[in-house]
Amino acid sequence: MNAIYKTEKHSRMEVKLTDIEEKLQKDKSWQQFKKNIEDYSNSKVNQLAEDENFWKIVRSAYVLDNGVLNINHGSINTMPKIVNEALLAYSNLCNQLPGYWFFEGFNQEKEKLRSRLANLVGADTEEVSIQRNTSTAMETIIFGLPLNVGDEVVLSNQDYPTLVYAWKQREKYDGIKLHWIDIPMPTENPELLIKAYTEKLNSKTKVLQIMQMFNWNGQLIPIEKISRKLEGSGIELVVDGAHLPAHLPVNVSTDGSQYWGASLHKWLSAPVGTGMMTIKKELISKVRPMMGAADPESNDIRKFETFGIYNMPLELATLTALDFLELIGLERKAARLHYLKNYCLEKLSDIPGVSTHSPMSKEFSGALGLFSLKTISPQQLQQTLFKEYNIYTVGFEYAGISGVRISPNIYHSINEMDYFIDSVLKISKTIT
Ligand SMILES: Cc1ncc(COP(=O)(O)O)c(C=O)c1O
Repeated sequence: MNAIYKTEKHSRMEVKLTDIEEKLQKDKSWQQFKKNIEDYSNSKVNQLAEDENFWKIVRSAYVLDNGVLNINHGSINTMPKIVNEALLAYSNLCNQLPGYWFFEGFNQEKEKLRSRLANLVGADTEEVSIQRNTSTAMETIIFGLPLNVGDEVVLSNQDYPTLVYAWKQREKYDGIKLHWIDIPMPTENPELLIKAYTEKLNSKTKVLQIMQMFNWNGQLIPIEKISRKLEGSGIELVVDGAHLPAHLPVNVSTDGSQYWGASLHKWLSAPVGTGMMTIKKELISKVRPMMGAADPESNDIRKFETFGIYNMPLELATLTALDFLELIGLERKAARLHYLKNYCLEKLSDIPGVSTHSPMSKEFSGALGLFSLKTISPQQLQQTLFKEYNIYTVGFEYAGISGVRISPNIYHSINEMDYFIDSVLKISKTIT
């Protein structure tokens, strides 16, 4: 028996990683899928957005629960088959020698991921930290910013709850002052948004927090325009970009986001529990790591990643999710998502009693849409859609925003959207 161990060469361990990648890539059905997608490489983005044949091919890359029409991808996306397979393969490999893979074998892959994520969001590689979700990313920033008693932060009543909790804790324990604003949504008027975000700023304001896209109704905020108003003021811009990666183009080096966080299990369709954070290089040293780091004042972004042992195969499969995105193409994906959302909202708005609450233009929206139906609460409507029509959405009432949110994905067909619209029509008839 011992002889077996003696003949195993250490270098074989690295080969196993490449083996997984090769096996995934060489899989016949994946090769065929790639070829089918590549056949459309000369198609125009806008035409492709409405080409059901192309998106039917895309759908073949997923294993779906065909009994339920899932139009809530704003919370979490379904991984394409190849991403799930990668996750299982890396987990199996890791399970054979966990300590080795965690502490040594996967390290290079982590740096590869950092650099590819940097590329995705227009950051420098040394500004990217790999996190678990938007909440850990944003709370690392919120709890890490050196703010003193009396320093002021401007944020909105409609901001995401986990971030609101974190700021309220800083108010309670550190004596900072929070200025709450209301964002006039939906709107396609940048001036209204700029005014809402800037009118409460004063000489004590140290931070302005902005949701780049509101989860409630998909309202996009022109952060670049707002950031220009902050120039020279000393006010720092903290941006929640939860919904942006692999949904819409992001460029943190030009849009003014000094601190930015996002989830990768949303539109990148990476495994659940993946996220990222970027901080401008010159600001890293002053941000305190939320988890203890050897040198908390270091300007190395890796100081924010001292989580202890965690599920590293998630990060490796994120590389496969990036490959998948590159094959489909971000521009094409963004156009299809926007088309599906607008298709639904336009048709829904023809139904008596339905109101829609989302922007429609590409400048101010993407895949997320919000609507409501007179005389039925959003929660009731969500339940009825789920229980009676097998349609999964999310209904809520929060900070003055109320409705059922839809967020289709690239594998949906127009037929499915019609089924959903028709279901709302039927519900509307039963309650009026
Ligand atoms: C705007 C926004 N911010 C933050 C979050 C939190 O993301 P996560 O649950 O991945 O931490 C979400 C989640 O839906 C969100 O929509």
